[in-house]
Amino acid sequence: MDNYTLVLGSTLALSFFYIIIAKICNRGNKKFPPGPSPWPIIGNFHLLGTKPHRSLVNLAQIYGPIMSLKIGQKTLVVISSSTMAKQVLQKQDLPFSTRFITNALQAHNHCKFSVACLPVCPQWRTLRKILNTNIFSSNRLDVNEHLRSQKVKELIAYCARCSQQGKALDICQVVFKTNFNLMCNTLFSKDLADPFSDSKDLFSGGTDSPTTTLEWAMAEILRQPEIMKKVQVELAEVVGKGKPVEESNIPKLPYLQFIVKETLRLHPPTPFLIPRKVEQDVELCNYIISKGSLVLVNVWAIGRDPTFWKDPLVFKPERFQSLEVDMRGQDFELIPFGAGRRICPGLPLALRLVPIMLGSLLNSFNWKLEANIEPKDLDMEETFSFISSKAHPLRVIPSPL
Ligand code: HEM
Repeated sequence: MDNYTLVLGSTLALSFFYIIIAKICNRGNKKFPPGPSPWPIIGNFHLLGTKPHRSLVNLAQIYGPIMSLKIGQKTLVVISSSTMAKQVLQKQDLPFSTRFITNALQAHNHCKFSVACLPVCPQWRTLRKILNTNIFSSNRLDVNEHLRSQKVKELIAYCARCSQQGKALDICQVVFKTNFNLMCNTLFSKDLADPFSDSKDLFSGGTDSPTTTLEWAMAEILRQPEIMKKVQVELAEVVGKGKPVEESNIPKLPYLQFIVKETLRLHPPTPFLIPRKVEQDVELCNYIISKGSLVLVNVWAIGRDPTFWKDPLVFKPERFQSLEVDMRGQDFELIPFGAGRRICPGLPLALRLVPIMLGSLLNSFNWKLEANIEPKDLDMEETFSFISSKAHPLRVIPSPL
C-alpha cells in the first residue's frame, strides 16, 4: 500500500468514526442539553450541595434554562424558566408525565396504588377522576365546609389558651395537627389524630404543603408589621374583628389572597414539583432528553426570576394588585401546584385551607416573636428535602387584638 492510499484510508476511517460519534452525541442536529462536565463515578453530585434549588439556579445562569447533569449514572435534566416549564408541563405534557420513583419508594407496594406515583394509566385516571369529582369539586367542598370551620375554631381556642398564659407556640406543630384533621374531615368526615397531643407520627404530603405555606406566610408577615396591620384591617372590615374566617369570605379578601400567592411564589413547598422521568428519548427544543432521565422543574427559581418579577426577593403581596398571575397552572411564572395533567389535585382544598387558617389566626390575635426577637432578625433559612420548609421552627406568642 502506497502512502497516498494509507493517508486516504486513514482519513476516510477517521471521518467515518467522527460521523458515528457525532451522530451518537448529536442524534443528527440534536444535542443533549448543556451542563457541567461530570466527574468519574459521582458525576456532578458534588455541585448540588445541601440546597440544590439554590445551587441549580447558579448553574442555570451558566448553562441556561434547560441543562443536564449527571448524578452517578443517572441523567438529571433541570428546567429553570417559565417558557421551558410550559413546554414540559403543557405543550409536551405526556412524555414528561411519568413519575420518577426511587428504589426506597418502590420497595413499598404503596406506589402501585398512589395517585402521586402511578404513571399515566387507566388506574391513575380513575383515581384522579374520583379526587376531582368526589372530593375536591367545589360542590363537595361546600358540603363539608362546616367540618373544617369547626377545626379552625378549635385552633383559635387553643391559641386563646396560649394567649391567656402568655405562652409561645410552635406554629408549624399546631397548624400541622389542625391541617391533618382538616384533611381527615374533608376526606373521611372524622378526626384521626388528637390535634394537640405531641404525636407527630402521622405524615401526609397533602398536610405538609399547606402547613409549611402557613408557617412561611406568618414568618414573612411578622417580618413586616405593616403587612400584618393591612391584612388585619381588611379582615376586620369583611369578616368582623375577632371572628374566624369562613370559606365564603375568601373571594372578598383580595389582600389575604395576595399574601398566600406571594408566600407560594417565594416559598413553594416542593421547589422541584414532584420529580418526573421520561420513558423514551424525547426531543425538547432541539435537545434530546434521553430515556430514563430524571426531570426537575425548578419552580423555586421560576418564582424568583428577575426577568419577570420586579424586586424578586422582596415579599410584597401588593405586586399582585397590578399583576394578573394565576396559580392554577395557566401562568407558568407562578406554578407552585405544578401544571398540566399532573397538577396538584388538592389545589381547590389548599386554596381554602390556607386562607381560612391564616386569616383566622390574624383576625383573632396580634402576634409577636418569642424571646423579643426583632422582626428584622427573624431567621428565614430553609431546609431542603422532599418538602422545603423553615429550618428553624417559628415560635410566636399570640395576644388579644
Ligand atoms: C399549599 C398546598 C399544596 C401545594 C403547594 C401542593 C403542591 C403540589 C405539587 C407541586 C404537586 C406536583 C405537581 C406536578 O408534578 O406538576 C402536587 C401533587 C399532588 N398533590 Fe399537592 N400541594 C398542596 C396541597 C395538597 C393537598 C391539600 C392535597 C390533598 C389533600 C394534595 C394532593 C396531591 C396529590 C395526590 C398529588 C399527586 C398528583 C399526581 O401525581 O397525579 N396536595 N402537589
